[in-house]
Amino acid sequence: MKHLISCKELTKEEALNLINTGFKIREALRKGRKKFTALRGNCVVNLFFEASTRTRTSFEKAGKFLSADVINISASASSVKKGETLIDTVKNLDMMHPDIIVLRHACEGACNTIIPYIDAGIVNAGDGCHEHPSQALLDAMTIIENKETVEGLNIVIAGDIVHSRVARSDIILFQKLGANLFIFGPSTMMPRYPDALGVKVLSSFEEVAEIADVLILLRIQLERLNAKKVFPSLREYSKFFGLNKKRLEMMKKDAIVMHPGPVNRGVEINNDVITSSKSVIFEQVENGLAIRMAILTTLCNKKEKLLEEIDA
Ligand code: CP
Repeated sequence: MKHLISCKELTKEEALNLINTGFKIREALRKGRKKFTALRGNCVVNLFFEASTRTRTSFEKAGKFLSADVINISASASSVKKGETLIDTVKNLDMMHPDIIVLRHACEGACNTIIPYIDAGIVNAGDGCHEHPSQALLDAMTIIENKETVEGLNIVIAGDIVHSRVARSDIILFQKLGANLFIFGPSTMMPRYPDALGVKVLSSFEEVAEIADVLILLRIQLERLNAKKVFPSLREYSKFFGLNKKRLEMMKKDAIVMHPGPVNRGVEINNDVITSSKSVIFEQVENGLAIRMAILTTLCNKKEKLLEEIDA
């Protein structure tokens, strides 16, 4: 593997290898290990053209834990502000010989566009409404942690599906891992051709509650919508689709609730749901660091070195 752009290009075996490596790393971190040397001499550039808290921080921390040189670049503090293009920006960075460029960009296909121009490996940290593969891998890791497997589970993704790169990557990866996928939300936020994605559309929360082993909630992506045309409104969304305590209690006893963050408290999810025993939202964040360490070491061909360090 040289790049991680899309869950489409990831085989089931590659995904499970990354997740298993993630579990080993997380155990080591939980035991208090603070530093590994596997990526000493490697360089990771985090190039973010869109806002991020979880993805950016965890890729930065992942690189530093692994002893890589980590360079963080925000578009707002770069020569992009002076009109430099994405391709020129990345080509110039590539001439400084990084091993990996982690890219977040508002345009679908941004990562694929730059691949022909550079030698470094590319990790897609979210490209517009297209994909966010490291989020799907950490989501699968969290499901396996709580349910032992993804295979055969009924996974419902609820909310603004049409604008969600997390939904796309989750759907593609979870189908590869053998899950049954469903979507739920206002029809204005549903994909036009759900059959093409291999998902079934649910029409009521009663249906969701009856079948969901895993419920993944999504934020309404106001930044990708025309603010004057958001329908339903946030208040209406909360009333008809938001997960509150009453709806949570309708769900299966062992169902889990996930959210990639950032959450809009009181819109798609209420405060008491976030802190309920069904919520694994903060486990997702912890697993995000481990999975990103697994991704960086795998792409730099240093996985075996890291595993030896962990076992030593
Ligand atoms: N889940 C996720 O991508 O969060 P950030 O936008 O904070 O990175």
